[in-house]
Amino acid sequence: MRGVVYDGKRVEVVEDLDVRDPGPGEVLVAISAAGLCHSDLAVVDGTIPFPVPVVLGHEGAGVVEAVGAGVTHVSPGDHVSLSTLANCGTCADCDRGRPTMCRKAIGRPGQPFTQAGRPVHQFASNSAFAERTVVKAVQAIRIPKDIPMPSAALIGCGVLTGVGAVLNRARVDRGDSVLVIGTGGIGLNVLQGARIAGASRIVAVDANPGKEAVARQFGATDFLASTDGVRDLLPTGVDHAFECVGRVELVRQAVDLLDRHGQAVLLGTAPATAEASFLVSSMFLDKSILGCRYGSSRPQRDIPLYAELYRQGRLLLDELVTETYPVEDFEKAVGDAEAGRVARGVLTF
Ligand SMILES: NC(=O)c1ccc[n+]([C@@H]2O[C@H](COP(=O)([O-])OP(=O)(O)OC[C@H]3O[C@@H](n4cnc5c(N)ncnc54)[C@H](O)[C@@H]3O)[C@@H](O)[C@H]2O)c1
Ligand SMILES: [Zn+2]
Ligand SMILES: [Zn+2]
Repeated sequence: MRGVVYDGKRVEVVEDLDVRDPGPGEVLVAISAAGLCHSDLAVVDGTIPFPVPVVLGHEGAGVVEAVGAGVTHVSPGDHVSLSTLANCGTCADCDRGRPTMCRKAIGRPGQPFTQAGRPVHQFASNSAFAERTVVKAVQAIRIPKDIPMPSAALIGCGVLTGVGAVLNRARVDRGDSVLVIGTGGIGLNVLQGARIAGASRIVAVDANPGKEAVARQFGATDFLASTDGVRDLLPTGVDHAFECVGRVELVRQAVDLLDRHGQAVLLGTAPATAEASFLVSSMFLDKSILGCRYGSSRPQRDIPLYAELYRQGRLLLDELVTETYPVEDFEKAVGDAEAGRVARGVLTF
């Protein structure tokens, strides 16, 4: 089968990939569509260290093809959106509703694939850039069949991360002010999360002025090409600042733009050894800096919720899909993403 493999030097669309059958508690999914998130590119440029060779992709949707022993919540033919959390369901963190903190869901990449007989790793317990993948039962979440697959795919990372960061981590309240730095696939979902939460002023900042129209479509009340003008709009600062790029100078700007009791939420992935600084005195007035993995999501609850909000017209998904590409055109999808021509590019199989 076809798949996108990074071998440590280059990315290639290969045709001789195989995936093993689902074992007990696993699901085999035929991928229909998968979004290209910046985190896939971060594996290739070394920002996210990952063992190679690896099948990329972690934002996908597809059709259940087979289930392993003991799997009863989905059956062949069901449409599913895939989460990246292979959480165990039996530890204290899972039990208290923090599957993103489950230690079994971090690290320890499996190797369900082979290429010409040699094992190939699975990225983010997922590897959606393959015709088929095997995931844990808990990662395959049934969605209504009327949601187009390219739209459904984006729930699995961009929506869970962006909307989740607003609703679950920051807990943005009605009337709060929100700053979103970087309006790519993640930032746009932070914007629409802030709109859903009832934020009053939602300021989007992106270095690419071409992002203004889509940022406003997703909920921005204001758009700026840099954070320089934020104090003109909100002189006392913002209640919540989301960094959605992964650059230390933007982390600093997020912290410096906080109002009293404000919080900076860090979503961007900076290189593993990058350090950021802040004025200790600037934190004095009850301010906080929050990390956020995967929108602090609970996929069993959140994916059906987002699917329903989409059907009610309250969550935009179709508008995130600027372009679809057959998987063979992976290079073109990367070029368009890097040039900022797309909200999200989606590969189809
Ligand atoms: N925390 C998590 O769980 C999680 C999950 C998914 C992605 N991520 C990370 O989130 C980040 C964003 O991912 P994405 O897929 O939205 O990326 P993207 O490439 O789609 O978007 C990045 C955006 O940032 C803008 N930008 C770049 N430099 C800027 C600057 N100096 N000032 C303002 N804007 C700037 C770009 O124009 C672009 O619109 C990445 O670092 C990614 O790895 C984190
Ligand atoms: Zn992602
Ligand atoms: Zn667990």
